[in-house]
Amino acid sequence: MEIKSVGVVGAGQMGNGIAHVMALAGYDVILNDIAEDSLAAAVARIDKNMERQVSRDLITADAKAAAMSRIKTTLSQPEVGQTDLIVEAATENEEIKYKIFEGLLPHIQPHTILTSNTSSISITRLASRTDRPEKFMGFHFMNPVPLMKLVELIRGIATDDDTYETCLEIVKRLDKTAASAEDFPAFIVNRILIPMINEACYTLYEGVGNVASIDNAMKLGANHPMGPLELADFIGLDTCLAIMNVLHDGLADTKYRPCPLLTKYVEAGWLGRKSKRGFYDYRGEIPVPTR
Ligand SMILES: NC(=O)c1ccc[n+]([C@@H]2O[C@H](COP(=O)([O-])OP(=O)(O)OC[C@H]3O[C@@H](n4cnc5c(N)ncnc54)[C@H](O)[C@@H]3O)[C@@H](O)[C@H]2O)c1
Repeated sequence: MEIKSVGVVGAGQMGNGIAHVMALAGYDVILNDIAEDSLAAAVARIDKNMERQVSRDLITADAKAAAMSRIKTTLSQPEVGQTDLIVEAATENEEIKYKIFEGLLPHIQPHTILTSNTSSISITRLASRTDRPEKFMGFHFMNPVPLMKLVELIRGIATDDDTYETCLEIVKRLDKTAASAEDFPAFIVNRILIPMINEACYTLYEGVGNVASIDNAMKLGANHPMGPLELADFIGLDTCLAIMNVLHDGLADTKYRPCPLLTKYVEAGWLGRKSKRGFYDYRGEIPVPTR
């Protein structure tokens, strides 16, 4: 099936990246959020990120102008329903995602494919709340979307081959690589990555190291480009906690219990880079460890 237009629901850090790469690949994009501010910030962010690509000769100024002209924003769900493929990239909360799909259903077309960028929530469960579980998939981009090559494609129990093949073609057109994952909590990347981040939180909580020593140890000792706490701030501590809770609930194993310190940071509203404070404080010129 040929996809020409893509609706992106949620214009946060992932939604703006998804709109960015889809528009550059030639798809008409409708970006939707509940907050007008998020939409304006997303368009400004996409413009800035594409400008950086122009300055590095990765894309031409004409390609940028054409891509920017393909992105429309809207607060209205019926408008998003007119697209061929919808990528839901709203807050990592199952109830929010149910409400989004419920609101979209009366407006989507018979051929529309529904996908979610969820990091951890069951695709089969999300799909079962729609009228088309066979046309529903997990389409999981990595952060930052324009730079990261991987997309995890997750089939729900009912996802049909046409839907999978159509999404695989889109991944190729985006010049990215797909990894197929089965629909179990947190799929592949986050099943491995987020418990490591949670363990780094325990290492901090128990006083084995401080923020700087833990991040330096993993950068220099395990050759990771970012330390786990720096990465947690980048992902969003609320998202990390939500994924740990999905692993804990979904696999019923105490080894996935979220670190109380991670919970405390989230309760404080210290969510990482997006709120200017997490394991580091980003309000000044350079990030300062908070512990
Ligand atoms: N942050 C990461 O590194 C990362 C990586 C891969 C996947 N994800 C997944 O992507 C999704 C979004 O994460 P994010 O980091 O972009 O979050 P974010 O907090 O940056 O953005 C979420 C956006 O969703 C919007 N939103 C909330 N309710 C909505 C609704 N009913 N309709 C439309 N928009 C709504 C919010 O206003 C906000 O702009 C989550 O499912 C997350 O698990 C995140």
